[in-house]
This record gives sequence, C-alpha cells and structure tokens, in this order.
Amino acid sequence: MSAAPARVAVLISGRGSNMQSLVARQGDAYRIVLVASDKPEAAGLAWARDQGLTTFALSPRGIGKPAYEAAIDAALRDAGAEWIALAGYMRLLSDEFVAQWRGRIVNIHPSLLPRYKGLDTHARAIAAGDASAGCSVHLVTEELDGGEVLGQAEVPILPDDTADTLAARVLAEEHRLYPAVLAEVVRR
Ligand code: GRF
Repeated sequence: MSAAPARVAVLISGRGSNMQSLVARQGDAYRIVLVASDKPEAAGLAWARDQGLTTFALSPRGIGKPAYEAAIDAALRDAGAEWIALAGYMRLLSDEFVAQWRGRIVNIHPSLLPRYKGLDTHARAIAAGDASAGCSVHLVTEELDGGEVLGQAEVPILPDDTADTLAARVLAEEHRLYPAVLAEVVRR
C-alpha cells in the first residue's frame, strides 16, 4: 500500500475491549494515535497507558460540554488524528463537534441497525422474539445511531439467551468487525 496509515483516535468510556481489538489489528491501514476518555477512571484508559499509547482523559463535569469538547478537539488535533473511532463512548457528541469531523467519525453499535438504536439492544432483541442479533459499524451523524451503516455481523439468538449471553456472543463479533471495517473506510 502506498498511502501512510490513517491516524485514528479512539474515544472510550469504559472497559475498552473494542479499543483493544482496534489496537491489536492496527497496521498498514490505520494506526491508533490517541485513546481519549470522558471517564478518567475508565479501565480501558489504564490498559492503553500500559501499552504506551498516548492518552487523554477529561470529565465534562463542572466545565460544561462546549469547554469539554473543545479540549477533546484540541487533544485530537495535537495527536494529528484524521479519524475518530467511538468504542463504548457513552456520551452524545454535539452537532457542532460532529460537523467539524463530518464523515470522519465511526461508531460500533451492538444491534443490526436500523433496529434498536440507543440502549438495551440485546434485551430488546430478545423481547421482540428476533431470531438473530448482531452489531453494526456506522458513520456518526447528528442522528443517534443513524449514520450510514458501513458493515454488520450477525449472530443467532438462542432459546436460553439472556441479554448477557447474547451480549457476549455479539461482542466477539464486534471485535472482528470493527478493525476490518475501519481498515476499509479509512481508504475512502
Ligand atoms: C460495546 O458493546 C459497543 O458495541 C457498545 O458499547 C460496548 C462497549 O464495550 N457501543 P467495550 O468498552 O468496547 O468493551
């Protein structure tokens, strides 16, 4: 490949298992240049630090969303990020932030979009009697979980499934899907 790897920042709020799979599969297509979090205590942040990755943590509490997002934006630009991958980032980005990074923010969502936008996707899929569930990687727009779907993976819902057992089956697919789709989309 002739082009340099795309510079990707990952935003997390929690354990960061998807972030870890993105880091594990970085290479010719993309490199992770920053792991940032709105939760300074996020487990994934400690892992990233241990790996020697550049990290940034800031809670919006007490400073307000505009100042918080301005600081995140500055950290992204300092790191030379070209793309943002949301990975269990549990905060809505403002329309202004999305506009600044339009077409350059991706997210992984644990449902087969357009079904089950928002939270509690696995419990909702089971309650609906669906035969299958899955995950989607999509572009982030101003509409929650509403941007273009870039890739999906499907798993069966088994008769004894709980939201937790289904979540674990879907998560294994998330870890495969996200790096593959990211590697594709950064070539756009
Ligand atoms: C994943 O299920 C992801 O799809 C959703 O939040 C969860 C984050 O898990 N957006 P992790 O922090 O990547 O382990």
